[in-house]
Amino acid sequence: MRMRKKKNLEPRLERCEDVTISNPAELRGSWKDLKPDARKICLEIGCGKGRFITTLAAQNPDILYIALEREKGAIVMAMEKVKAQELGNVRFIIGDAAELCDYFADGEIDDIYVNFCDPWTKRHREKRRLTHRNFLALYRRIMKPDGHFYFKTDNVELFDFSEAELPDFGMEILTLTRDLHATDIPNIMTEYEERFSSQGVKINYIEAVFKQ
Ligand SMILES: C[S@@+](CC[C@H](N)C(=O)[O-])C[C@H]1O[C@@H](n2cnc3c(N)ncnc32)[C@H](O)[C@@H]1O
Repeated sequence: MRMRKKKNLEPRLERCEDVTISNPAELRGSWKDLKPDARKICLEIGCGKGRFITTLAAQNPDILYIALEREKGAIVMAMEKVKAQELGNVRFIIGDAAELCDYFADGEIDDIYVNFCDPWTKRHREKRRLTHRNFLALYRRIMKPDGHFYFKTDNVELFDFSEAELPDFGMEILTLTRDLHATDIPNIMTEYEERFSSQGVKINYIEAVFKQ
């Protein structure tokens, strides 16, 4: 997501320091300490402006959510939502999915959510897709063996790629639909999802696990 430079970005980020993990590598292996009674620790990669993670966190106060995003202009809006709603179970990392294994120890994360990631449809850019096997390998390391991976996209090319890539990498697809909103699968709309679906674009969805 290319963001215009946000006004007052640095002071706004400073006001969100209490929900920001500025050195995630220091917490590697001990994220549970942030919420010892947490039933699970779940991660959203590319949280954008945060509607999804704030809604999910409000519905599940017994789960600790980590939201990762590399664009400061987007993540600051997500942080502000969490603070406005006084949610105590969300923390943010300003960082890159490529560094996941520096942030989390093996098996530390339960579920992972990837919503409307950049499709990288130009030739030779597949490796940047967050469902490319190079990223799946990182997810497999940091996830618990019974963790679930949830993926949504409007982009058919990315979805076709992912539908093939996940099983090729040894994942089992539990649920797949090319029209999520026509199903009764529980769903929380993201900012991107609302924009695309209001234009009549169908939303593609996969829930998958790593085969043991
Ligand atoms: C198209 S936006 C979707 C945002 C939000 N998930 C939604 O559905 O409204 C994709 C987001 O993923 C972030 N992103 C893409 N690649 C990333 C990476 N490797 N690590 C962290 N964030 C990433 C982008 O900065 C952008 O904010």
